[in-house]
Amino acid sequence: MTAEIINGKEIAAKKRVEIAKQVQELKEIGVTPGLAVILVGNNHASRTYVRNKQKACEELGMHSILIEMPEDVSEQGLLAKIDELNQDPQIHGILVQLPIPKYIDEKKVIESISPAKDVDGFHPINIGRMMTGQNAFLPCTPYGIMVLLEETGISVSGKHVVVVGRSNIVGKPVGQLMLNQHATVTYCHSRTKDLMFHTRQADILIAAVGIANFIKADHIKEGAVVIDVGINRNEAGKLCGDVDFEEVSQKAGYITPVPKGVGPMTITMLMYNTVKSAAESTAR
Ligand code: GUN
Repeated sequence: MTAEIINGKEIAAKKRVEIAKQVQELKEIGVTPGLAVILVGNNHASRTYVRNKQKACEELGMHSILIEMPEDVSEQGLLAKIDELNQDPQIHGILVQLPIPKYIDEKKVIESISPAKDVDGFHPINIGRMMTGQNAFLPCTPYGIMVLLEETGISVSGKHVVVVGRSNIVGKPVGQLMLNQHATVTYCHSRTKDLMFHTRQADILIAAVGIANFIKADHIKEGAVVIDVGINRNEAGKLCGDVDFEEVSQKAGYITPVPKGVGPMTITMLMYNTVKSAAESTAR
């Protein structure tokens, strides 16, 4: 069996057409959705991610500002900037690109963003709302994975979803979203005993571990849906996921490639959340 490839780039492009239409509708009533991105220091990967986020805003006709702060900015200085953006009516979404320098309290920074502008969905208020199935900003990568499955016509209800990785940004929330959609969810992580026993049970396997080519054909059940969240470089410096695509794609039913799988959906859902925030601001 050869897996069907889930084309994230194509699905993202389709979603972006819908989002661009919503941007135009909001502009017609005098609201231009606006995103503020704060970049602290000079992390190379962060700079690339931030550039891509701004480019996506431009393409959709949205307003975006980039605030660059030096590596040695004080916690107070960063919090003051966030407070200013919380009050700014032209800004509907605030995103502090992670990681930030270690001496700054990341939790404090995340909690200082108004939950109404937390388009990353990292604020505990939004996480709590997500857990209890209320209206919330959903974290972009997990949300993007749900949309990929939906657009591919893969139902989650009653399926056994196995998540490998338990980060606050991907692993934990994607399991919660799957549960909200009536899946049976197993979380695996670095201290899980007999990982393969669990992953072989998965109807849908989510790999979010951050280790290049970690998931092999032996880890999966024939015909499983395999979602690869990894962005790694292999020994040759080539971009690759957490899944050994070459061998796993011979056994899976569906698989997301890297690149052009989950990646394009993350920014798309950030744009979606920013437009949602702008629309909700008109109702307040
Ligand atoms: N760093 C890596 N991924 C993300 C993300 O989704 N949001 C933010 N703010 N920082 C990140």
